[in-house]
Amino acid sequence: MKAVAVAPGKVILYGEHFVVYNVPAIVMAIDRAVKVLVSPRDDGLLRICSDLGFACEYENGTAKPLMGGRKSVTFLEPVRIATKTVLEHFDEKKGLNIDVYSTIPSSVGLGSSGAISVATVAAVSKVLGHEIDKEQIWRLSLQAERYVHVTPSGIDPLVSVYGGLLVWRIQDGSKPKRIDRDIVLIVGNTGIQRSTGKFVSMVGKKKARKIEGISQLMGVMSWISNLALKAFKEMDLVTLGVLMNMNHELLKVIGVSHESLDRLVEATRKAGALGSKLTGGGGGGCMISLATPSKRAVVCKAIEENGGQPMIVRKHNAGVKVQLVKS
Ligand code: PMV
Repeated sequence: MKAVAVAPGKVILYGEHFVVYNVPAIVMAIDRAVKVLVSPRDDGLLRICSDLGFACEYENGTAKPLMGGRKSVTFLEPVRIATKTVLEHFDEKKGLNIDVYSTIPSSVGLGSSGAISVATVAAVSKVLGHEIDKEQIWRLSLQAERYVHVTPSGIDPLVSVYGGLLVWRIQDGSKPKRIDRDIVLIVGNTGIQRSTGKFVSMVGKKKARKIEGISQLMGVMSWISNLALKAFKEMDLVTLGVLMNMNHELLKVIGVSHESLDRLVEATRKAGALGSKLTGGGGGGCMISLATPSKRAVVCKAIEENGGQPMIVRKHNAGVKVQLVKS
């Protein structure tokens, strides 16, 4: 038997970085996903393969790259950590083959590592014969998320577990609130891959040293997220756009934007978007725009003309799904 788990990626609409400090954030699962296949093997070894050209075999915790050189060790580490966490949780010592397939571009703020951790936890538990609920999947996937984000809020694996459009803050634990609305967004990918952990750490250091009034900005960001929640209730797209613009300015102040992101944000606003902002960890990666249907094509064009790759994303309602199939 083989276990197959599918988990969606995400875009953060409001509140990235600030969410690490208990500010409410609004996040949406998107129609891009990760698929993880897990099957048992008899020799006790762990082998992880990714369709991005990385593969490693692990014996007693030592990694042997099979494809992609040393880079494969770093790239596959969240999968190894998620697997180890589940094996230890259930006190199991099984050999496993793990195959990862993804339609989420990696390291650009669209939640690929969160989705990989969630799908791995779900599939490994299932193949070992353990039924775990959504809250447990989220909690177990946090260990791998710590490797990627250093001090993660947990929002990426959370939306991957539950799906939909959610408002959440750390103190809500595994209980996000659903926003029952549909929204279409345009993503602009700068193509610049970066480490979210580096930016999360940088913001943490600035906050600890009381630089740039980051603590005071927390209050402003909470106000923006709460207003956005109200605007969603009324489906007031104009206000949602204005709040996205304001959010981007705050992210610039805390130092997580990048000239390539600012260029796309500027160009999409000029092209008629209601609002644009970076999404995720920043420093490159992706931005999002909200635009009326008649303006979407011209906003996509503005992204292309300014060196980005446009992509329309829609809300994906389902969170992680896992099942057993015959090998
Ligand atoms: O994984 P990314 O780049 O989408 O960033 C996640 C959001 C952060 O707020 C920057 C980090 C976190 O754990 O909440």
